[in-house]
Amino acid sequence: MKHILSAGQFNKALIEKILESAGKMEKALSKGKVPQKLAGKIVACLFFEPSTRTRLSFETAALRLGGQVIDMENGSVSSSAFKGESISDTTKIVSGFADLIVMRHPQDGFAELAAAVSPVPVINAGDGGNQHPTQSLLDLYTIKKEAGRLRDLTFAMVGDLLYGRTIHSTLTMLSLYPGNKFIFVAPKQLKLPQKYKDLLKKRKNSFVETEDLAEGLKQADVVYMTRVQKERFSSKAEYEKLKLAYVFDKKALRQIKKSAVILHALPRVGEIAEEVDKDPRAAYFRQAKNGLYVRMALLEYALGM
Ligand code: CP
Repeated sequence: MKHILSAGQFNKALIEKILESAGKMEKALSKGKVPQKLAGKIVACLFFEPSTRTRLSFETAALRLGGQVIDMENGSVSSSAFKGESISDTTKIVSGFADLIVMRHPQDGFAELAAAVSPVPVINAGDGGNQHPTQSLLDLYTIKKEAGRLRDLTFAMVGDLLYGRTIHSTLTMLSLYPGNKFIFVAPKQLKLPQKYKDLLKKRKNSFVETEDLAEGLKQADVVYMTRVQKERFSSKAEYEKLKLAYVFDKKALRQIKKSAVILHALPRVGEIAEEVDKDPRAAYFRQAKNGLYVRMALLEYALGM
């Protein structure tokens, strides 16, 4: 059973296999000749938190591969979760209807709960502030395309490193590659959780923590900006204080390397100024598009096609 639950389950060989398959999907789409490998299969997209990119790219991926989709786009209020049904019960029911379940939920670790009772593959499309493994695979696909490699790179990861699940899973995958260094730029309230620093130490990746954006920018091969995750804050005042702690603007463009790549999982809410979008180093819209190819590859992999 090929559940996709967290970045930690991926080794380099599996990452390379998914990225290679995503490249084939991109090529097949450009030629208009996509193998209909999901014909007769139904993918359920159960989203208990808002999403634009992840849900729609998974749905598009399933449809492009000839599959069909059932979905729950606002599960917290539109499903029986609203009446108190548990994740486990919801999973048991939907796995009787669909061949694969893609699920997003605000609770950290829900994906393991769902996978434990599911007879069909479960894909974690984001669990609280914990992990977002499919975003990380599309991040790596983008980095390889834009920077030409996945090793010997310096990453500046900026913003909400406490709740930013994408950062947690992406750095976990990047730490598999030798020579990668990390500069974590965050206010003290939003620093990276200790367990990820322990992982980097164990894998001998060097890292520094700073509150100074300029320090991160000047050394980075890849700048990864993040949104401060409003939905994880219990205090609105605290969120308001921190939400624009770091803004990447025209001035920042002058500070980064000519060859740098600027990423953001999106949505952005002010932390990258729109004036940056025209710069060729701004790769975040290309990054989002790559999500389709990678999710096509992931559906194929998880269904063993
Ligand atoms: N990057 C990402 O997860 O975007 P959505 O929340 O729109 O799915």
